[in-house]
Amino acid sequence: MTEALPPWRPLLRAALQREGRSVSARWVQLATNGRDRTPRVRTLVFRGWSGVDQLELFTDQRSEKGKELSNDGAAELCWLFPKARQQFRLRGMVQLITPAEQAELCQQRWQQLSDTGRAVWGWPTPADPLDPSATFPEQLSETSPLPNHFVVLRLQIETVERLHLGPHPHQRTRWSAATHWQEQSLNP
Ligand SMILES: Cc1cc2nc3c(=O)[nH]c(=O)nc-3n(C[C@H](O)[C@H](O)[C@H](O)COP(=O)(O)O)c2cc1C
Repeated sequence: MTEALPPWRPLLRAALQREGRSVSARWVQLATNGRDRTPRVRTLVFRGWSGVDQLELFTDQRSEKGKELSNDGAAELCWLFPKARQQFRLRGMVQLITPAEQAELCQQRWQQLSDTGRAVWGWPTPADPLDPSATFPEQLSETSPLPNHFVVLRLQIETVERLHLGPHPHQRTRWSAATHWQEQSLNP
């Protein structure tokens, strides 16, 4: 039996559709706990859903966020839909899926990238001092070997909060997996 979609999924899909073909509609802000326990945030590309309440991102395990999330998987995504005038905040725990653990899954995700999208995994270690003699490929073909540091980040969503600036007053709604996604209306 297929699991029912949580009620926030169709709302998020509708907001995403409002953005049309805009590339930036798939950009999300990922917040983590730094290894020094201070906050960190950066932009990633939303890569798709895995199950009804799991969302996938791709990153480089050598990056700071790779280390942070191995240490502490707690994360929050902020996803802004300007045309729909809505913000979704998705909170939960991130599981890191490496080629060593799930080679087939990582290979499939690796192949779904464009040649230019793959190229960044062929670059030297993120945040190391720039070596002027290092090479930074512009493209990596589909047949290039899957790097060990390619990692799929799978966010298991536990809480969702949507803020809709369209109506007056603004609408703020929260759903939690713990209450079977029962909808809670909150003051905006
Ligand atoms: C529009 C945009 C999309 C990005 N997409 C990704 C992505 O999908 N995965 C990723 O690891 N970094 C992505 N980045 C780079 C990250 O924002 C970040 O600079 C990098 O991953 C290093 O982050 P860290 O030092 O916190 O680990 C993107 C940056 C921008 C501006």
